Amino acid sequence: MKERFPQGFMWGGATAANQVEGAWDEDGKGPSIVDAIPGGKARLSIVASPEFDFTIDSDRYTYPNHKGIDHYHRFREDIALFAEMGFKCYRFSIAWTRIYPTGVESEPNEAGLAHYDEVIDTCIAHGIAPVITLSHYEMPLHLATAFGGWKNRDVIGHFERYARTVLTRYGHKVKYWMTFNEINSAAHFPMMSQSLTVKTGALDPQAKYQAWHNQFVASSLAVKIAHETDPQIQMGCMILFATTYAYDCHPVNQLATLKETQAFNFYCADVQVGGKYPYYARRLWQSLGVTLDIQPGDMELIAAHRVDYIGFSYYMSTTLNKTDPKADAAQGNLLGGTRNPFLEASDWGWEIDPTGLRIALNQLYDRYQKPLFIVENGLGAVDKPDENFTINDDYRINYLRQHIEAMADALEDGVELMGYTPWGCIDLVSMSTGEMSKRYGFIYVDLDDTISGTGNRYKKKSFSWYQKVIASNGSDLR
Ligand code: BG6
Repeated sequence: MKERFPQGFMWGGATAANQVEGAWDEDGKGPSIVDAIPGGKARLSIVASPEFDFTIDSDRYTYPNHKGIDHYHRFREDIALFAEMGFKCYRFSIAWTRIYPTGVESEPNEAGLAHYDEVIDTCIAHGIAPVITLSHYEMPLHLATAFGGWKNRDVIGHFERYARTVLTRYGHKVKYWMTFNEINSAAHFPMMSQSLTVKTGALDPQAKYQAWHNQFVASSLAVKIAHETDPQIQMGCMILFATTYAYDCHPVNQLATLKETQAFNFYCADVQVGGKYPYYARRLWQSLGVTLDIQPGDMELIAAHRVDYIGFSYYMSTTLNKTDPKADAAQGNLLGGTRNPFLEASDWGWEIDPTGLRIALNQLYDRYQKPLFIVENGLGAVDKPDENFTINDDYRINYLRQHIEAMADALEDGVELMGYTPWGCIDLVSMSTGEMSKRYGFIYVDLDDTISGTGNRYKKKSFSWYQKVIASNGSDLR
């Protein structure tokens, strides 16, 4: 069979601390913003409501992230299953609040550090390279409530201390890192990645763009610390990429697509990879009434310490139609946009578009000429196990197969792609709906939306399929 993927290609899977670990208040961990976000389908609208202020109200809401899938206690079993699939790498995040429970302590919590020593060592013992996200949608709650989230410049110093602590502790054994998960998602939803509420500025472009600026400075500090710790370390950015189409060839739609692609897909990476604000930023800020507080030294730091690779998530494309106000909205698509008549959608309305991934890879490589790493991709679906917990998830296999084929095509186009870590390699709590029933995994976890159940792990059909994909280095996709 013809080899379409390079030797050393990093096949693996991805999770995030707040969606798998549980144990939200164990061993000295403090609450993070996600611990204060209710579960359920209404989750994002609750967070986006004017009164929301991160108060934990257990009488009114459920908080599935508090228990997650108990990966905190069961990580050895989970990582052994990943190893059985042949993972070359495992992308996970460190919960900042296990290391600095409120974010402002001067000394780290040793129990939290010891936990990730064990997780990392378990991966390495199985020949799996850890790929660590420093911040996956979960700043310490105290930094959100007392400081107002990332719009407050003081948060940079607290992040820097956290980044230094973990990079110094683990940098000699972990080569691949990322700074902020889906940093650009704030364009549409700043509650998770910037910890802003409506009360603290989520709807105010000034707050959002200032928060981004502070994150860019913090990201460059993390790159600096990483390279000083060990020049071998590769620090990536992480963006949410949604290939954006104009609905038709009307110039208005074409222009809107260009502008949205810049403002959403490229704005953050242009700074984190390019080391400066892009040419279109000034006009964008002006149109939104934004005046940034850029301190002396910020732009020099950003220019000097750029990321080594581009990590990105890709789930779907989005389509813009600005000329027809009655055009159907794409249901469930977090990014909004119009329904694309050429695409099928998932049970949650996310439009499935493998060709869009090939376009994404080409657009990113064309612009940045940096190695790319697909660190999230996958199909959220309802799985229906029979009485023996057999799950024939052919729909998931089909989705992944088509996206892997698109990756192979993009490699032949000439892009440089380091690896692929499908999202939620083990079932976990969904980010946008805080439920278990939206499943992505190769491994089924017997828990329902209230986190009731045995918690037992079962291999789905996709488990052995992915095992074969990895063993054949992407040649055998049957
Ligand atoms: C990405 C996030 O946006 O998409 C993950 O980085 C998230 O945290 C994933 O889980 C899938 O989204 P959802 O809402 O289906 O969990």
